[in-house]
Amino acid sequence: MRRILLDNIVPGMKIARPLFSADGKILLNAGMELTERYVDRLKEIDVSYIYIEDELTADIEVPDVVSEKARMEAVSTAKNIMDKVKLGKMVDASQAKKTANNLVDELCRNHGVLVNFMDMRTKSDYLFNHSVNVCILSVMTGISLGYDELRLRDLGVGALLHDIGKLELDQDVLNKKDRLSTTEIEDMRKHSQFGFDILRKNPEINLVSAHCALQHHERYDGSGYPRALTGEEIHEFAQIVAVADVYDALTADVAYRAALPVYEALAIINNAEGRYFRSEILNNFTSNIAVYPIGTVVRLNSNEIGVVVDISKEVKHKPVVRMIADANKQRLERMIEIDLSKQPQLYIADVVER
Ligand SMILES: [Fe+2]
Repeated sequence: MRRILLDNIVPGMKIARPLFSADGKILLNAGMELTERYVDRLKEIDVSYIYIEDELTADIEVPDVVSEKARMEAVSTAKNIMDKVKLGKMVDASQAKKTANNLVDELCRNHGVLVNFMDMRTKSDYLFNHSVNVCILSVMTGISLGYDELRLRDLGVGALLHDIGKLELDQDVLNKKDRLSTTEIEDMRKHSQFGFDILRKNPEINLVSAHCALQHHERYDGSGYPRALTGEEIHEFAQIVAVADVYDALTADVAYRAALPVYEALAIINNAEGRYFRSEILNNFTSNIAVYPIGTVVRLNSNEIGVVVDISKEVKHKPVVRMIADANKQRLERMIEIDLSKQPQLYIADVVER
């Protein structure tokens, strides 16, 4: 399979991964051939990428850090928990813990697998997908830092619910495309405290988990909010969630901008090393991310085009690439794979969105 920008899909292409809605329903199933109507439907629901199957890439499988099933269950539980809170009920701690535990178990089993998927999500269910992604990315960082299972579970719950305070914000401001006014920014910033208060109402949620909500916008150098804490004044869980939160927001389509490719998002967070984020946490975070995910179409410095088919954790920026077109854009007859880590003169120049 390979990843393709939605603008470039045409009827007749075959879907390689199922596409789910926020409540876990399958919108399009794997193996389905796209008709005109489905293409329109995909444009309507506003996804950026899909994975397709074609002759050249049919044997390429993209390993994922958690199963599609676990991810979708987590998204639908996150939605469930938040829907109840919106109705004025307490956070369902047992549901949150069960979900976090499931993800922790899968992530521990799959330790060593890199994050490959730019997940396919629609803009309308951003909060739920974002919550689950931040949970997955945070727990992976915790595993890399050597956390035991108990700490991973508390971190997982906190990461899953870190933005729950957003439920109390004005949803029009939250989804606004234009620049926010000073008062609107001030209002937005209240979601950290709101989230903490919501989580503290249920004594079954541990205090350390609630701190993920309260402190995930604090920055290592003191430039964050709500209290402008510095360094180790910020709970380590919240420091982890902070990196995961920024990274996931950058790689998602949001109201005011399109998703950035992974390598650009990584460059942005790496640029904040030591300022916004402690180096140790940032490095453990990035060690789990595939810079050029499997299935990505790339252009080499030689101008040849290929698809990333394999990555080693040691040299992530130099994966194995299967060539699909030569420098003159001619499709190749023979299947050639190049291990860039063994080719000092060759490197990835660009990601091609097609
Ligand atoms: Fe937030």
